[in-house]
Amino acid sequence: MALCGSDLVSIIPLSTRDIMGLIEDAEELRRALRVYGSLSLARGRIMATVFLEPSTRTKLSFTFAMKRLGGDVVDFDASRSSLLKGETDRDTLRIIDGYGPDIIVLRQSKPGFPMEIKDEIEAPIINAGDGWNEHPTQALLDAYTIWRRLGRLSDLRVGIMGDLRYGRTPSSLSYLLAKFPGNTIYYIAPPELSVRPEIREKVAGKAEIIETESLEDVIEELDILYVTRLQKERLPDPSIYERLKGIYRVDAALLRRHRHIPLIMHPLPRTWELDPSVDEFPQAIYFEQARNGLYMRMSIVKNILCL
Ligand code: NCD
Repeated sequence: MALCGSDLVSIIPLSTRDIMGLIEDAEELRRALRVYGSLSLARGRIMATVFLEPSTRTKLSFTFAMKRLGGDVVDFDASRSSLLKGETDRDTLRIIDGYGPDIIVLRQSKPGFPMEIKDEIEAPIINAGDGWNEHPTQALLDAYTIWRRLGRLSDLRVGIMGDLRYGRTPSSLSYLLAKFPGNTIYYIAPPELSVRPEIREKVAGKAEIIETESLEDVIEELDILYVTRLQKERLPDPSIYERLKGIYRVDAALLRRHRHIPLIMHPLPRTWELDPSVDEFPQAIYFEQARNGLYMRMSIVKNILCL
């Protein structure tokens, strides 16, 4: 798939070549930023950020990315918009698109929404999270982080732990890992949060899948442990949260019980599942992971804008 001029709504259409190309560009942009501070590649181009669900990292890193590329950003403030008068998300997007942004970064709560509207919208759309479905740019920055640390995206043993049912980062990361040879994905979750069937189906036959409820049984086999938050806002019933709260948790004491400690990743924000006592371990790379998001998102924007 050529990224130039196209939407990025899912990780699925990307080839391993596309992914490696994005990683190479992220490395190059990182070096260029170190030398020049800011670039002017995207001068005169405008990104619209449309976040209809909360965000810190994704929105800010896209904003920094576009500005460091020399472009402009217009942010849509949902909390003061005509959405409050009952305007639909679809109409809102059509209006924003009519003003002619060069790229739209969209986060919305309905799974599949970017796919539904992309043909009505002229600007390329980057999916910054569609409900529980997918978060492709997160998977790309996760891959970039793994590649920087381990030098490969194949022959990995990756544990993905936590809310595999309502989370969108486990799905996109799984689809990405399944493209590279020799990967094993350990899904670590209680039955109520086990991985969605469509993820299992798409990954089966490409990556090996191991499902378990016990982190401690498998932790020593892992190269990477990817921890995720229980998606409280998406649970059908608040009693589920109360019941599952604290059921899985990584802290320093747990890690010290093991001879081998994998790299620890987390898309953030964290709550109780990843204790700050882990921060002091050299294997804790989640802040580095968030920072890598800046360079990967610069790379994504550069490629979609054909710069
Ligand atoms: C994630 C998300 O929004 O899906 N956050 C992020 O973009 N880094 C993870 C989460 O909210 O748990």
